[in-house]
Amino acid sequence: MRTKMVAGNWKMNKNLQEGVALATELKQAVKDPKCAVVIGTPFIHLATVAQLLQDSPIKVAAENCADHEKGAYTGEVSAEMVRSTGAEYVILGHSERRQYYAESYDTLAEKVRLALANGLKVIFCIGEVKEEREAGKQNEVVKAQLEGSVFSLTAEEWKNITLAYEPVWAIGTGLTATPEQAQEIHAYIRTLVAQKYGKEAAEDTTILYGGSCNEKNAAELFACPDIDGGLIGGAALVAEKFLAIIAAR
Ligand code: PGA
Repeated sequence: MRTKMVAGNWKMNKNLQEGVALATELKQAVKDPKCAVVIGTPFIHLATVAQLLQDSPIKVAAENCADHEKGAYTGEVSAEMVRSTGAEYVILGHSERRQYYAESYDTLAEKVRLALANGLKVIFCIGEVKEEREAGKQNEVVKAQLEGSVFSLTAEEWKNITLAYEPVWAIGTGLTATPEQAQEIHAYIRTLVAQKYGKEAAEDTTILYGGSCNEKNAAELFACPDIDGGLIGGAALVAEKFLAIIAAR
């Protein structure tokens, strides 16, 4: 049985005190969740929040890591540094990183490699932009993203990959993919994983949906057989909403 998961992505929101307050509220409420719960926070929060959540089922994720091991890369944070904070996950390949920071398939492949080599689990995001969806190219796009950055991993490494399908046109827009649209492409993504790593590995791969997933639409999305949970942006910033999404899983 594959892991069900609800993961939050705080993006560039919450200062340290606000982040600690939110994590504290979540810790008090999440005692025995039915699914894995992860929160992705800015780098500066990681050590404090990971320590705060040490005896909690909630795990912590970074939202990025460097594409180099160490050294003269001013302002960068390595996978090893992320791991040393107590964070167990890193979100990589988010469309905002691809779009605003020009992260290429090769850069992402390197980040994934370093993250895994340093003991982090990776939540790897894929998804098409609006024009690609309108042109019916969404399958092509996600296939290229997988082949370009993660399908060179070994079967052993693959076990530490969670995928997140996030149609870019749905992120932060209030436009959610319909459960039918999401289920269709999740099933396709699982087929691609089966072709590459075998049926069993594909059945064990957690595939999250992200893009305006909230407390109102989560249950309907999570009811789809190939949607194993959600990667939540805006609704992860409000404890009440994030908790309702966890309860829906
Ligand atoms: P959203 O963001 O839930 O605010 O649409 C999701 C994401 O970007 O991970």
